[in-house]
Amino acid sequence: MKIALLGYGKMGHEVEKAALAQGHEIVVTIDNEQEWNERIDLLKKADVAIEFSQPDMAFANINRCFDLHLPIVVGTTAWYDRLDEVKRRCLDEGQSLFYAPNFSIGMNLVFRMNQQLAKFAEQYGYAMKVAETHHIHKLDKPSGTAAKLANDILAESSRYRQWSIEGDCPADTLPIEVTREGEVFGIHSITASSPADRITLTHEAFSRVGLAQGALAAARFLLGKKGCFTMDDLF
Ligand SMILES: NC(=O)c1ccc[n+]([C@@H]2O[C@H](COP(=O)([O-])OP(=O)(O)OC[C@H]3O[C@@H](n4cnc5c(N)ncnc54)[C@H](O)[C@@H]3O)[C@@H](O)[C@H]2O)c1
Repeated sequence: MKIALLGYGKMGHEVEKAALAQGHEIVVTIDNEQEWNERIDLLKKADVAIEFSQPDMAFANINRCFDLHLPIVVGTTAWYDRLDEVKRRCLDEGQSLFYAPNFSIGMNLVFRMNQQLAKFAEQYGYAMKVAETHHIHKLDKPSGTAAKLANDILAESSRYRQWSIEGDCPADTLPIEVTREGEVFGIHSITASSPADRITLTHEAFSRVGLAQGALAAARFLLGKKGCFTMDDLF
């Protein structure tokens, strides 16, 4: 694949390393607004764009790719308040979009286990909690991954009406505990507790390699397809 990297920070570099190792080509990297002005023509040489930038930039970057009819894989999180708008344009215009709050295969397995645990907790009256720990440079909180875990629990629950990161939550609010420390790649835990016992699911990423490889698998999947896809479609 000829790949354009939008966002050339920690994940951009990791995707580049994995892409080159798999024999793909990076035709352009764009890491700020000035580079958008200088390098936009190089995007026309790409088969697909892979976007890991900032929460406040993802929406504009997606639209720029749509303007060029360039398929785009979006890893950036915390822009999903605009997801409906993006999906509408994608479907109306026959564009190609893949988005995921977490590209790791292991974490996506935990998403499925979490959905099952949430059903079980609802049936047997367990209280639930989500916790996430990431490196101190992370801009958004909670992580997109923790937000998905929490939303999937809310979808099964009659006890919880919303989630919160504030601590001391009222009974109808699912707590998400957020920790920022050192260079932690990402730890997510889901706990279901009853007076009799506790069940915990934990996923810990040891590096960003699995995320980069997942994003490349998503790009390969997206080529030649029109529409809006997620990891469920890839699996
Ligand atoms: N979906 C996943 O699996 C996954 C995994 C890791 C990180 N993330 C998310 O991806 C995003 C990036 O993470 P990171 O760790 O690489 O962050 P980072 O801060 O290391 O890199 C982000 C880069 O985006 C650049 N940037 C800023 N404005 C831009 C613009 N207009 N166009 C292009 N690039 C621009 C910045 O200069 C920076 O280098 C975050 O939102 C993070 O939460 C998602």
